[in-house]
Amino acid sequence: MVKRLSVSVCLAALLLSIGSAVSATENKGLQAALDFRSANMIIYKWYMGPMGRMAKGEMPYDQALFRKNAEALATVARLDLLTGFPKGSLDEDSEAKPEIWENWTGFEEKFKAFQKESEKLAGVVAKGDRTATLAQFKNTGKTCGGCHKKFREK
Ligand code: HEC
Repeated sequence: MVKRLSVSVCLAALLLSIGSAVSATENKGLQAALDFRSANMIIYKWYMGPMGRMAKGEMPYDQALFRKNAEALATVARLDLLTGFPKGSLDEDSEAKPEIWENWTGFEEKFKAFQKESEKLAGVVAKGDRTATLAQFKNTGKTCGGCHKKFREK
């Protein structure tokens, strides 16, 4: 009886230590995922910035600069952002909404829309038509907001 008790105490201790080792690993993974998706978003913002200022007339329209930024955006849009959202990856600093995992297909669709529109933007700007470029820039920007509205806090 005593022996059986000590075995189960040992087992419980072992399970506990495995449990904390696993959660430490998971937390490491969580932070990496948060960093990864944040990094992607910051890069999107970086390339959207000059195009947005040109669209608003805050800086002169420069076809070559616009094209460079549009191509860079289309390039980073090809990276798989979705791997940065493992199931339930949330902490108090994250602005991600739980709806992402409740409606994963919807989230994927929002990402695909962004990929499609940014790719299209790179194609349109290459043709040199300013009006068409600015119209397509607007469509691209809408895909950022389209996802944020549904899946990001604030
Ligand atoms: C498929 C959905 C989706 C698309 C498309 C998307 N975002 Fe986000 N974005 C998010 C989510 C979700 C967060 C919150 C992530 C978190 O805090 O864990 C976020 C956060 C951000 C942040 C804050 C990043 C930080 O950590 O400081 C910026 C900036 C941002 N997005 C810019 C953009 C821009 C610009 C675009 C379009 C060019 C874009 N996003 C497209 C879903 C998206």
